[in-house]
Amino acid sequence: MKPGDLVYVLWPHSDTDGAKNRPALVLDGPDLQGDVTLLKVTGNARYQDTVKIESSDLVEGELFKTSYIRLDRILSTHSSKLLERGKAVSSVKMAEVRKSLALKNCAVFSRLAHATNRPGDDPALAPFIPGKSSVPYAGRVFTEEEVVAGTASMLDFWLTLGKEGDAFEAGLAKFLGVKRSILCNSGSSANLLAISALTSPKLRERQLHPGDEVITVAAGFPTTVAPILQNGLVPVFIDNDPVTGNARVDQLEEAFSTGKTKAVMMAHTLGNPFDLSAVKSFCELHGLWLVEDNCDALGCRYDGRLTGSFGDLSTQSFYPPHHLTLGEGGAVNVVGNMLLKTLVESFRDWGRDCWCASGVDNTCGKRFGWQLGELPQGYDHKFIYSHLGYNLKPLDVQAAIGRKQLERLPAFVEARKNNWHALRTGLADLGDVFDFMLPTHAVSWSPSGFEWDASGHTTDCSWFGFMLRVKSQAPFKKIEFARFLDQRKIGNRMLFGGNLLRQPVFVNLRKENPAAFRIRGLSAKENSSLDSSAINKLLPGADEIMEEAIFLGVYPGLSQAQLDYVVESVHEFVARH
Ligand SMILES: Cc1ncc(COP(=O)(O)O)c(C=O)c1O
Repeated sequence: MKPGDLVYVLWPHSDTDGAKNRPALVLDGPDLQGDVTLLKVTGNARYQDTVKIESSDLVEGELFKTSYIRLDRILSTHSSKLLERGKAVSSVKMAEVRKSLALKNCAVFSRLAHATNRPGDDPALAPFIPGKSSVPYAGRVFTEEEVVAGTASMLDFWLTLGKEGDAFEAGLAKFLGVKRSILCNSGSSANLLAISALTSPKLRERQLHPGDEVITVAAGFPTTVAPILQNGLVPVFIDNDPVTGNARVDQLEEAFSTGKTKAVMMAHTLGNPFDLSAVKSFCELHGLWLVEDNCDALGCRYDGRLTGSFGDLSTQSFYPPHHLTLGEGGAVNVVGNMLLKTLVESFRDWGRDCWCASGVDNTCGKRFGWQLGELPQGYDHKFIYSHLGYNLKPLDVQAAIGRKQLERLPAFVEARKNNWHALRTGLADLGDVFDFMLPTHAVSWSPSGFEWDASGHTTDCSWFGFMLRVKSQAPFKKIEFARFLDQRKIGNRMLFGGNLLRQPVFVNLRKENPAAFRIRGLSAKENSSLDSSAINKLLPGADEIMEEAIFLGVYPGLSQAQLDYVVESVHEFVARH
């Protein structure tokens, strides 16, 4: 008797009166005592956790009707109690049985082990114990579905990007309404790829060359800006509006330098779309590339259209705090120009000229028909390199998890909005000590919604966080507030790097290579004599954000009890002062 044999066992097993010989599958052969492990087999299709078997799945004997192996009925018995039937299923079927058992266990495991990671409105979410449990500012939100999808992909062990990657890329592009989405291993890599793609000679007169300028914003995440410098380009900083956290678009023209400015790259701060109408018109007027760092803004809308679909390229991050997570991961979205798709993929995949998907040959139909560079005629296109590329690919298992996350995205976006609204409403009476972030184009908030400016444009934020600034006249400082929140186990964050020009890396750069970047309106020479107070005069909004701003979580894993606890705790802190 061996694994895969179909046998008869008396069933019900524990109540032999009235038991009959019924079919079962041997899972493990006899041990030293002669005991075997079996799975019950039934002809009844009504059970849930089953693996179907047909005659074609048998390597010995024949099956008279379709049967179902029940994964939820495992028993051990002595081999002498079994009747052999001369029937056995194939090793392929046994592999399917083993995989199905593993995934079933995985789902049960995840429901037990991951109760704190479930969506905030999930009845199985672990209960919140005020003062004991934490209120993270963000985190992975998932159920057993993601764990099963990821494990299934690992069991398949394809590993490198494959069917899961293709499906995730297609799903993301469809959601955003862009031509293509290209997966990579982080949001920072996505930003690096987006800017690097624009340096390709294949763009001819629109190619970015070292020394060309890219307009960006002073306060935010460092890797929105780093790829500009990493490509030998010059970031030109404009200030942030401290109320929206976004770029002061009234400074764009001052940042422009004829013949030098070639692109604009900036982020939608904390899920608040920047003024896309102004930025797009500016880019169109001057023939500039626009790269939207959409890493914190998946699901945001500007005039009803999703952010990430306005620029030439846009980027996503899938690190856990973001709108959906693959653990690590990112994507570059190609909005319309398919040449950019080839370029982004080339930089992602070692700089190669070939655009075949992983494991595929000869997509171009002339793999041995190219002559490029000074290579011999017919040199294998797979090994022709047009760019100084990287390898920034993720694994297929990440995409498998991402596909499940993508299904949750609409609910996640709604939850982020609702949680923001709950905090805003709960803290509405604290306007004496806090200034609350406003969406771009909003002039005020009330419980019934936002009032919009006269521009005619509106935004709809899929918030990354709930940002507020501690007013200068408040009887406490931001840092005291942050410490209090920490004591209460309430997650809080600064707006990332604050005014990036204050970061050690930029202070060093200013000393070592003053022409590496500039602030809008300054010449390279003026820029080189910048000191701290000059920076403050030119970028007061970014400094204000750095000094006064803090954000709380709105991620979809928060329950009402957690939100109530945050509101109560903040009130208690303010009342103490
Ligand atoms: C605006 C912005 N851009 C880029 C990134 C980088 O993403 P990643 O952490 O996946 O590299 C982040 C990270 O949080 C971000 O907030």
